[in-house]
Amino acid sequence: MPVSYKQFLEIPNFPDDYLRLPRFYDGPQMYDVVQANREHLRYQWWTTQVQTRPDAHQHVTNTVDNNDAGDRMQYYLSAGVPVPNGPIRGSVTAYEIEPELRHAKVGWWVVKDAQGRGLATAATRRLLTELQEVYGTESVEAHIADDNAASRRLAQRIGFEPTENSYEVLVGGHLYLMDRWSMQL
Ligand SMILES: CC(C)(COP(=O)(O)OP(=O)(O)OC[C@H]1O[C@@H](n2cnc3c(N)ncnc32)[C@H](O)[C@@H]1OP(=O)(O)O)[C@@H](O)C(=O)NCCC(=O)NCCS
Repeated sequence: MPVSYKQFLEIPNFPDDYLRLPRFYDGPQMYDVVQANREHLRYQWWTTQVQTRPDAHQHVTNTVDNNDAGDRMQYYLSAGVPVPNGPIRGSVTAYEIEPELRHAKVGWWVVKDAQGRGLATAATRRLLTELQEVYGTESVEAHIADDNAASRRLAQRIGFEPTENSYEVLVGGHLYLMDRWSMQL
């Protein structure tokens, strides 16, 4: 179902930061962000697919298309005065949105120097509110590597609980044990 998302979302308690929709022209910026944060973003499997500028353009194009199709709800975290091409400082994403089941999977990341302020937590909460409003989502799930302490803490703070259901995945030649966390909204 094609949907139209709000272009900007405010983040409660973070007046200098905002969420904005990805745009087709974000490829060059995304390439620079991934290059500068590659080790920090090692848990993000999609970064292994962003090795060149054309890769980054393709990645962003897919993101925009998936948003337009309603398969996803992905926002970039940005800062300053809200503008459509604001600096990319991270992202919050709902994917595999299942409106009939009122369920979605969610993920989050911020650039290295945006960590430690509670911003990623607040931005993820804001995404969950939007998911509830737009899709009536009632339950969400997050897949988190068992050694990703920062992400586990974030999930706990928001109210996710770990399930018994884990799986292994190979990302960039490294085998990760992924735990499924879930939460009722
Ligand atoms: C996972 C990730 C988003 C977590 O970022 P983070 O900075 O730890 O999370 P937050 O922005 O919510 O900040 C949390 C910290 O800020 C603190 N904080 C919360 N509110 C705050 C506020 N208003 N002012 C100052 N600090 C605050 C918290 O106490 C917390 O610190 P703690 O970890 O010592 O308890 C980040 O590490 C990341 O992007 N990692 C790489 C990508 C990744 O792995 N993504 C997840 C894949 S599943």
